[in-house]
Amino acid sequence: MTLGEGGTPLLPAGRLRREVGGADLHFKNDTLLPTGSLKDRSNAVGISRAMEAGHEVVAVVSTGNAAASVAAYAGRAALQSVVLVPEATNHEKVVQAAAYGARIVRVRAGFDETARLYSQAIKALGWYNCLSSDPFRNEGKKTYAYEVWADLGGRVPDWVIHPTAGGTGPAACWKGFNELYGLGWIERLPRIVVAQAAACAPIVQAFEAGWDEVRPVEPQQTIAESIKVGGPSTMAWRALRAARDSGGTAVALSEAEIERSQILLAKEAGIYAEPAGAVSLGAAIRLAQTGTVQPGDLVVAVVTGHGLKQPPTHLSLPEAIPPDLTALEKALQVP
Ligand SMILES: Cc1ncc(COP(=O)(O)O)c(C=O)c1O
Repeated sequence: MTLGEGGTPLLPAGRLRREVGGADLHFKNDTLLPTGSLKDRSNAVGISRAMEAGHEVVAVVSTGNAAASVAAYAGRAALQSVVLVPEATNHEKVVQAAAYGARIVRVRAGFDETARLYSQAIKALGWYNCLSSDPFRNEGKKTYAYEVWADLGGRVPDWVIHPTAGGTGPAACWKGFNELYGLGWIERLPRIVVAQAAACAPIVQAFEAGWDEVRPVEPQQTIAESIKVGGPSTMAWRALRAARDSGGTAVALSEAEIERSQILLAKEAGIYAEPAGAVSLGAAIRLAQTGTVQPGDLVVAVVTGHGLKQPPTHLSLPEAIPPDLTALEKALQVP
């Protein structure tokens, strides 16, 4: 099942290069996938798999983007989708899922409790599970790696940075590059960076503490709503391992850093991302500031969700003016 996913642009950072100390930064713009987020890569494969296995109902628990994506692919495949979302999930994303025809279940709880209910429902009701714990879906997600490699003319990035919640992105990207390496297409591997909001950073915590497993944290308030998962499950240790085995790292960003990255991406790179999607730029800036990323390093920051889904909240619009030139000049303070 396809909606034309993949083949998203890899854009050189242009003016934003100054923010990363002259590193050769590129953005993999996955905001341009069919439903506006990274989730389409995996759902193209996941829903195809559900069809092949003869399922009629597919389901997902989601911070918003996966709900919309599963609903779109399922609708096109004439499958019923059921999506469980925490009550506080961003309205635009839930409405998007509803428009595609999903049965929406809003749960009066945070993500981790909603996910517990979802696991029970999957077992009890026999729905096809569209979560990343399904390795078929990973096969779709890993195509990041192939596309980046092809668009760089066969060069390998020094760093690939992912906004991270459950951990699928970093783990799948690592898989893709390892396949290229194992088959002799490339001679070295990139370092993988897990980027999270400091308000909810269980994988960063495990990386910094040297743990082998990811322990849950109590999520705090963050504008990076899509990556607010305190107790990630099956893919989290794989993402942790990808960061460690690749010689990469894990970065937790403040709310101010995330907010600034969202605006910088829009103003200076022409990419309108939701806050979670801009976390990769924030991590690139931080890593350049701390000297981890060096001038000239080839860095790919994956931008994972569209800004129309969650626009900046702190930008206020001006008062409307009457339709005359004096009012226009006054509004623009033309002398
Ligand atoms: C915009 C956005 N970025 C990143 C992620 C992280 O996903 P994962 O860590 O599961 O790859 C999500 C997950 O919902 C998302 O919606």
